[in-house]
Amino acid sequence: MEKRQELFAGKAKSVYATDNPELVILSFRDDTSAFDGEKIEQLQRKGEVNNKFNAFIMRYLEAAGIQTHFEDLLSHNEVLVKKLEMMPVECVVRNRAAGSLCRRLGVEEGMALDPPVFEFFLKNDPLHDPMINEYHIETFGWATAEAVAAMKVQTFKINQILSKLFFDAGMVLVDYKLEFGLFKGEVILGDEFSPDGCRLWDAASGKKLDKDRFRQGLGGVIEAYEEVAMRIGVPL
Ligand code: ADP
Ligand code: TMP
Ligand code: ASP
Repeated sequence: MEKRQELFAGKAKSVYATDNPELVILSFRDDTSAFDGEKIEQLQRKGEVNNKFNAFIMRYLEAAGIQTHFEDLLSHNEVLVKKLEMMPVECVVRNRAAGSLCRRLGVEEGMALDPPVFEFFLKNDPLHDPMINEYHIETFGWATAEAVAAMKVQTFKINQILSKLFFDAGMVLVDYKLEFGLFKGEVILGDEFSPDGCRLWDAASGKKLDKDRFRQGLGGVIEAYEEVAMRIGVPL
């Protein structure tokens, strides 16, 4: 397998073609972005920690019956994945109130959400990822009604699998964001799952162990990511 030209450089990862048209390489960089790219800093080891974290989670989800794009961990910061036709929507599930939900609805951070709340956001930095619903997605052709249904089912299944994984390691999975794409017509989990795209709190102390440490300038960002990795058994 040969690495070829860069196809796309996102805020935190770059996508490279390979000699196989069905596969691409995601390269995890140390760039750390918040507020849709308004705050960007380099955090040493972030690319490596998130790459290994994501590989562990993708393998864990595959073992639990979720179809993902993951093929192979190639190096400390590169992963080989199926080339998906990404849908420009972000699927968010919230088990506790935090972040934009608190700002939008004025609810207190930490409130338990039962049943968990599902939200779609449009992946569009200049528009600051506005919240959208199924009607917008279908009407504007961002995904079909069938793909929308499949994304919701898979995102909720993943909630059960990962909430337990983190709970057993003494953490609360507060919320997370997933991105899906199409591969030969099937809806497959793409992008990454890492502390960059979820909220994780220590169950006993409530300490934030995710990218909110970066967003809120709390410091110890990568140390927190490494602590989560260590607790769930990610080999770093
Ligand atoms: P962003 O686009 O939000 O700045 P990243 O820096 O993480 O995000 O860039 C990675 C890009 O790669 C994203 O646009 C994501 O949608 C895309 N991507 C993720 N997984 C795949 C895949 N399997 N095939 C093709 N593109 C992918
Ligand atoms: P929010 O509270 O800012 O709406 O975010 C909800 C969750 O989704 C949180 O874990 C962060 C994650 N997320 C991203 O990773 N990228 C995004 O662009 C958005 C909107 C959310
Ligand atoms: N993921 C988005 C960004 O990179 C939003 C955020 O995490 O705050 O800017």
